[in-house]
Amino acid sequence: MSTTTTETTAPGLTVSATQPKGRMALDGSPTNYGDFRDALNRDGYAVIKGAIPLERAQKYADEFYSYLEGFDLGYKRDDPSTVKRANLPVINEKGMILAYGVTHEKWVWDIRGEPGVIDTFAKVYDDEDLIVSFDVVNVQFANREDMPENKPWPHQDQDPSKPGFRCLQGLVNLNPAGPNDGGLIVCPGGHRLSEQFHAEMADEPRIPAWTPEWFGYTEKGMKWLSDHGLEWVKVCCEPGDLIVWDSRTPHYNLPPAGNQDRLAIYTCYMPVAQASQEDLIKKKGAFEKRLGTTHWPNAVHVAGSNIAMRNGEPCPKSRDRPIQEPVLNDRTFKLTGIPYIKAAV
Ligand SMILES: [Fe+2]
Repeated sequence: MSTTTTETTAPGLTVSATQPKGRMALDGSPTNYGDFRDALNRDGYAVIKGAIPLERAQKYADEFYSYLEGFDLGYKRDDPSTVKRANLPVINEKGMILAYGVTHEKWVWDIRGEPGVIDTFAKVYDDEDLIVSFDVVNVQFANREDMPENKPWPHQDQDPSKPGFRCLQGLVNLNPAGPNDGGLIVCPGGHRLSEQFHAEMADEPRIPAWTPEWFGYTEKGMKWLSDHGLEWVKVCCEPGDLIVWDSRTPHYNLPPAGNQDRLAIYTCYMPVAQASQEDLIKKKGAFEKRLGTTHWPNAVHVAGSNIAMRNGEPCPKSRDRPIQEPVLNDRTFKLTGIPYIKAAV
């Protein structure tokens, strides 16, 4: 970790502060890093090509499909007629599997531990001491007929009352994702105008949300973005590519319109220095109970349980723990935050 230590000395007082030296400002001004960070700063999002080598990305896609088949509910990857709600674990209309301890499956942790993925975030923060979110996985099947329509839900994942760059979100893409293949839709440059937007639109009624860290754009909000020259784009990528975006960048997802399923794993890292000891203890609890934390690595939210509800009843396939427990190495264990918890004095 590159750090600078500054000392301010006043009579009788010495204050020491440690701050990352090269952390990105994410302020929209031109930069000259010569890598993905220039696009990220300018557009509020970036694609890191081949963050995971293709062969391993294909192995993870295979493990994802095997996981779905492993519920023994009838789904078979080679038989599109089996893509039905009754044959699958509970998946919400946005393609997310929220329960079953999926976030702690070995293959999901293996993806989190991919060096090219971690290094991307380490570069942005100029910090090797990171923690990772225990976030969900996403599967959106091609040609699926029994799903409620996934209406666009443009939003930013950051409380407007807490402006400035706070969180970099990410997803690892495992299947080809061309223009018709579903996936992430972003509004480049929205991060730059976020503060101005919220100042000027302060009187607009808020779309109800379960957390203040989610802000949905109303029709008037969408018009504001367009009046300020912003447009929406579909992010296209290949298996093994990582997409990262500033939480202030407006975004949503769309299901596939073509013949390719969408498979994605949400991965979000932040410096452990941004988490309090209390956060880390909460995070340790989530890890030990194999619960999810949403995309916030500092465990702002922890899921109440791993029970999936199916037609108002607990899914018979509900489970508290993953099918395959995670196998952590030194680096992934650090990402749990546990080694950074100080012993009580
Ligand atoms: Fe989001």
